[in-house]
Amino acid sequence: MKFKDKVVLVTGAGRGIGRAIALAFGKEGAKVVVNDLNLDSANEVVKEIESNGGAAMAIKADITKLEEVQKMVDEVKQKFGSVDILVNNAGYWTIKLFKDTTPEDWQKDIGVCYIGTLNCCKAVIDDMIEKRYGRIINIVSDAGRIGEPFLSVYSGAKAAVIAFGKALAKEVARYDVTVNNIAAGVTKTPGVESFLKGVGGEEKLIKAYPRGRLGEPEDIANGVLFFAADESDYITGQTISISGGYTTVG
Ligand SMILES: NC(=O)c1ccc[n+]([C@@H]2O[C@H](COP(=O)([O-])OP(=O)(O)OC[C@H]3O[C@@H](n4cnc5c(N)ncnc54)[C@H](O)[C@@H]3O)[C@@H](O)[C@H]2O)c1
Repeated sequence: MKFKDKVVLVTGAGRGIGRAIALAFGKEGAKVVVNDLNLDSANEVVKEIESNGGAAMAIKADITKLEEVQKMVDEVKQKFGSVDILVNNAGYWTIKLFKDTTPEDWQKDIGVCYIGTLNCCKAVIDDMIEKRYGRIINIVSDAGRIGEPFLSVYSGAKAAVIAFGKALAKEVARYDVTVNNIAAGVTKTPGVESFLKGVGGEEKLIKAYPRGRLGEPEDIANGVLFFAADESDYITGQTISISGGYTTVG
């Protein structure tokens, strides 16, 4: 078991990519905190982890609110201990031309993707520095590196997370804390169903994917476990795409 007794907090883990990450850590012996706005779905993931013999707890918290995140991290400390591995996974995207977006759309995309990541990092970083161990993995998107039309505000928010992750990596490397970004390509989750319909369906999109298929949530989870592993101790401040060759950004 690669992550025996490590305390892992995964945001937005009630479904999609976050769920797959939480299940993967559960199978590797971690104590998994399943955060989501939707407590019912988070509880379902906890049940799945427990039925595989793992340990997990569900916490409802809105990551856009620092007080809620801090309360969540305190609750985790009491039950499992301080967070060893933080996966900033929860995200939100507005699919519109920029000219049609509203300030409320901007707040949502930037709030969940960027401010949510800042809040979660803020709540765990002192403990990681103090114990001289930590792994932070941000789930981003190549929209943040190449810019995607109809996702302009989201592209900016993910670009912010990428740059923040690189800067934080340099600040905390001396304390044995690593920070890396995983840029997911289109991955089959409940959240992308409407996007897939909008682009004319999965079959049409697959043609642009050299690997011949879209991503599965487990593909992203495998990358997260790679960055979290002891063997990746010397890898920090990096961004890799997991997109079946769709994006090959240098
Ligand atoms: N699926 C893709 O194609 C794709 C591609 C690139 C990047 N990503 C990124 O991967 C991550 C996961 O995407 P997904 O497709 O699994 O999404 P999803 O919409 O299927 O699931 C996201 C989960 O996050 C939760 N959430 C949303 N706002 C929250 C908040 N404020 N606080 C706590 N939880 C909140 C939702 O309730 C939901 O359960 C996101 O950061 C997304 O931007 C996804």
